[in-house]
Amino acid sequence: MTSRARAHAFNTAADRYAAGRPSYPPALLDRVAQDAGRSLSGARVADVGAGTGIATTLLRDRGARVVAVEPGAAMAARLHALLPDVPVVRGDGNALPLADASHDLLTYAQSWHWTDPARSVPEALRVLRPGGALALWWNTTAFDVPWILAQHRRIARVCGVEPQSRIRYDDGDAVRRAGLSGLPVTRHQVRWSRTVPLATHLANIGTRSAFLVLPEYGQRAFLREEEARLRELFPDGNVEETYVADLLVATRP
Ligand SMILES: C[S@@+](CC[C@H](N)C(=O)[O-])C[C@H]1O[C@@H](n2cnc3c(N)ncnc32)[C@H](O)[C@@H]1O
Repeated sequence: MTSRARAHAFNTAADRYAAGRPSYPPALLDRVAQDAGRSLSGARVADVGAGTGIATTLLRDRGARVVAVEPGAAMAARLHALLPDVPVVRGDGNALPLADASHDLLTYAQSWHWTDPARSVPEALRVLRPGGALALWWNTTAFDVPWILAQHRRIARVCGVEPQSRIRYDDGDAVRRAGLSGLPVTRHQVRWSRTVPLATHLANIGTRSAFLVLPEYGQRAFLREEEARLRELFPDGNVEETYVADLLVATRP
């Protein structure tokens, strides 16, 4: 399965995505503003790989003048239905459909890893004004919560991928892996939780790109088993999901 096919798989699950995926905590947006060195209010922001608009909504709610960039047709349509006032441009991070030095901030919420940094870093630097910032973040797995670690391993097994290491990348590795070496970069991690109905939690599992490309019957069987397990752990039917939001902010010199 190519990375391009997996990235495209999101398109087939735009509704599930909008219903199940977690948002991001206020403390993360505060951090983005702080590390970017300016308020989000009035900032010219492009939210790239915007998907159904989860991060776009938060940026817009903080007063940013935000444009959404999204390669997938179904995701872009879902975003437009949710946020009709936000301009949506079809495009991707490797060739941004945006003018030189036109933005204060570029954001990639869970989408930078779909780009090729050899192309997306120069593109970001082209589109940012001098002193502008590129903010990348991911809701990562809280491996220290035993049931979350166990579920992570089960999902990796059914998807036929390696479970991720419990060892977190140090700052230098994180910067290198993102292709940001040589730029001024800050990194912060924000731990947070949300409590959601079991059905939302299962929908969230169903939006992972590696899971989405499994055959339908395999997805259904896995989610049925997961539901039975979680009903024992959370008898009231509400699941507490914990995340560590991992944020990198690079500044254009
Ligand atoms: C995990 S989703 C994140 C969506 C949204 N930012 C959020 O926080 O929910 C990843 C998104 O990246 C998009 N994507 C795939 N390849 C991309 C690329 N090369 N450049 C930018 N976005 C890409 C996908 O279409 C998908 O909408």
